[in-house]
Amino acid sequence: MSKVLSAVAWPYANGPRHIGHVAGFGVPSDVFSRYMRMAGHDVLMVSGTDEHGTPILIAADEAGLTPQELADQNHRMIAEDLTALGISYDLYTRTTTRNHYAVVQEMFRGVHENGYFVEKTTYGAISPSTGRTLPDRYIEGTCPICGYDGARGDQCDSCGNQLDPHELKDPKSKINGETPEFIETQHFFLDLPALADALTEWLDEREASGTWRPNVIRFSQNILKEIKPRAMTRDIDWGIPIPLEGWQDNPTKKLYVWFDAVIGYLSASIEWARRGDDPEAWRAWWNPASDSGEEALSYYFMGKDNITFHSQIWPAELLAYSGRGDKGGGLHAFGHLNLPTEVVSSEFLTMEGRKFSSSKRVVIYVRDLLSRYQPDAFRYFVASAGPENQDSDFTWSEFVRRTNDELVAGWGNLVSRTATLIAKNFGQIPPAGEFTVEDRRLLDLVEGTFPAVGDLIAAHRQKQAIGQAMRAVAEVNKYVTDSEPWTLKSEDQRERLGTILHVLAQCVVDLNLILSPFLPFSANAIHAVFGGTGEVQPMPRIDEVDDLDGGAGYPIITGDYTGARAWGRSPLQVGTPISKPTPVFTKLDTAVVDEELARLGG
Ligand code: MF3
Ligand code: ZN
Repeated sequence: MSKVLSAVAWPYANGPRHIGHVAGFGVPSDVFSRYMRMAGHDVLMVSGTDEHGTPILIAADEAGLTPQELADQNHRMIAEDLTALGISYDLYTRTTTRNHYAVVQEMFRGVHENGYFVEKTTYGAISPSTGRTLPDRYIEGTCPICGYDGARGDQCDSCGNQLDPHELKDPKSKINGETPEFIETQHFFLDLPALADALTEWLDEREASGTWRPNVIRFSQNILKEIKPRAMTRDIDWGIPIPLEGWQDNPTKKLYVWFDAVIGYLSASIEWARRGDDPEAWRAWWNPASDSGEEALSYYFMGKDNITFHSQIWPAELLAYSGRGDKGGGLHAFGHLNLPTEVVSSEFLTMEGRKFSSSKRVVIYVRDLLSRYQPDAFRYFVASAGPENQDSDFTWSEFVRRTNDELVAGWGNLVSRTATLIAKNFGQIPPAGEFTVEDRRLLDLVEGTFPAVGDLIAAHRQKQAIGQAMRAVAEVNKYVTDSEPWTLKSEDQRERLGTILHVLAQCVVDLNLILSPFLPFSANAIHAVFGGTGEVQPMPRIDEVDDLDGGAGYPIITGDYTGARAWGRSPLQVGTPISKPTPVFTKLDTAVVDEELARLGG
């Protein structure tokens, strides 16, 4: 039993999220969290909407709204989408709460007092035509490190290094193509070189644990070689004020996303505790060796463009705040904060062989997908064919094929023929007579699938995990075909028929639990078909809450997941009534493929 923090990347509030986003951070984090709860761990799953920064400013400008109004709309929409996907957050909040501001500012003061900020004069980009500051992400040029010509002002997607815009060769504004002007400006830089030894030590230890995905640990160690101070403040008016005399009231200088959203993991944990019985309860997940003596583990879920945030910047901030770099330093209100146990990054999803692009209409938004298809069909696709260890492609034909051939014809068919045969012949779960060798082999095989699949999920190998579960489904389907229960019609065959159906019901109920972290909606439906009470997989809900510190109210995602079932076989209740089921999964018409392709931009 451990305290397990599931820290899920914070989606930007600049628009609706598409399936590429949620394939990276959403489904994998939820499968993991649901399983870990069933395995008996104390899971705290947090995230929220990332509402500051230039992408939101630009989107608000385009929509004729204030940034706060735009963030309000999109936060609500994103929260609804994530709820509809069944992502079981303990708290999904946002970065414009007063609590978040206070936690971020406390972190800033702690890091500052410990001496890990350096004040530097640097160059900020200005658009010569408008005179406004030009956001980093809207400057493109050639990477000074690897020579890639599509590098952005904040980051090079080719070599993964973080950049400052004035470092780019041949910088151009993405908005209108003009060459930006650079003017001198003062900023706070996080002294990453003074934290490099501590980071190296932590990453070496993490590498030795052998659990990180090889590409993630390699990438993280690689970027340590180019480490240098990084600006944590920006020339922008939409963001969290810098909590220092002389800066606090400056309307054009704010904290940067690297010292804002990423701190949300901590601020959301604190908000969660403050909304519960014990406002200090968050500490058990964040400070070492809690009173209960349970170890605290933390897993961070994201797409690969976010690795730098989580394997360098965030751990550096945690180290600096707790005084654990070359410059030493003291402890502050939050105490000694734990470094990530594992950065679980996925690769990228493409759409019909192309990069997702809202402007080119190479996109399907979560909302649109869920208005036409079952959430579990999408979750199944992501778990079995998503970008877990390498980039992968979403195609409508593959989505339809997997839904029809695997989910409907494989698992759905097994559920429905088992329930139908029982309903027709007994109306309730029959007792078992004597088991044959085949019966026992199947029962053992399915029971052994619990630890096999559980270990794979715990190790973030969800593709293998669901593959293993579906192979067990195929074995049970084969048992039905081989044992031909529909031929056992005479009275002297009735006990054998009952035994077969008993074995089948046990296997289906087991497999339903095993598949439930992946397919939580259908798991609840199937649980009901087999006479279960309550829910196997509790669902998240949206609550409208007051800001804890007097700000405006807002919707959150939360839920009570204490009812999650234990991971393992529980024996059937003989005599439980079973009626003829309605299909759990919807078979898709193959015409869907052309319809959906026609919606995409050419
Ligand atoms: N909103 C940012 C992005 O999507 C950052 C997400 S992760 C965070 O890239 F932890 F930094 F918030
Ligand atoms: Zn580069």
